[in-house]
Amino acid sequence: MSKEAFAKSVKKGLSSKSKHLSSRYFYDDKGSQLFKKIMGLDEYYLTGAEYEILSQQAADIHKQSPFQNHFNIVELGAGDGKKTIEYLRYLVSSDINFTYIPIDISQEANDMLIDNVERSLGKIDIKPMTGDYFDMLDSLKQNNRPNMVLFLGSNIGNYSMDDASQLLGNISSSLSKGDTVLIGVDLQKNPNIIAKAYNDAKGITRAFNLNLLERINRELGGNFNMEYWDFYSFYNPKNGEVNSFLISLKTQEVWIEELKMNFQFQNNEVIYTELSRKYTENEIKTLCTSNGLDVIRFFKDKKEYFTDVLLQKK
Ligand code: AVJ
Repeated sequence: MSKEAFAKSVKKGLSSKSKHLSSRYFYDDKGSQLFKKIMGLDEYYLTGAEYEILSQQAADIHKQSPFQNHFNIVELGAGDGKKTIEYLRYLVSSDINFTYIPIDISQEANDMLIDNVERSLGKIDIKPMTGDYFDMLDSLKQNNRPNMVLFLGSNIGNYSMDDASQLLGNISSSLSKGDTVLIGVDLQKNPNIIAKAYNDAKGITRAFNLNLLERINRELGGNFNMEYWDFYSFYNPKNGEVNSFLISLKTQEVWIEELKMNFQFQNNEVIYTELSRKYTENEIKTLCTSNGLDVIRFFKDKKEYFTDVLLQKK
């Protein structure tokens, strides 16, 4: 992601009346390392739950999929591929014919992913694409193999309901009838469990959020003093939303060299950083069906914390 785009987004977010920064910018090198740590935390149940689904129910997921012949597995934002590899492992061991097409905006992310996949599974047919999800998805229309699109890890949770609907609409319209989607969605559950996942005891999630300000210091010449910032998150079971914030611990002014601008923060003023939305099965069904995607089945972990939903284009 370009420095210009980051600067522009920071300028807009910190100039608005209720300040915000986009969670898209969490993932620089340090942020990606912190996110890896988060995925290993006991409190952050999402990763383990989805890993369980993909490793224990791969055969069922494939059985429910309509593909007889060679098909594409197109993954949007695979990360380190740890969970996907479990699904692919089943396909490889069952001699099923597929091409794995991970799509990411970062070339390095794709290179690391290929490394991980080949270390775990040996040489498989893998054709990474670097670029925007939807440009890449659209380009797949030219080959006439059926597609299974993976959108795992509860990444959809970062979108508002309306934006999530639009995203699913975009995916849906770049697919052909019969193509499938497997989407990872975090389910509503005991609010205490969700709250802990986004405010862990070791403070890794706190550091993950604070890193946004440190990134502004590093890349845009900001002078945020980290002693004067804290972190707050809460889960609201009335709407399924976890909202995360940074808190200014005093009245302060921050200079950002790249923007040649000063920003004023009041004591206790917050910067909104992230939405992590939790869904009910009914909400998921409505969201998908209204975008031309039928639910084939909800695959859930044993605790029913998380679901990978298999969808099919109408
Ligand atoms: C990567 C967007 C799924 O919202 O659960 C983890 C990011 N934020 N802890 C999530 C995150 C705080 C994560 N997603």
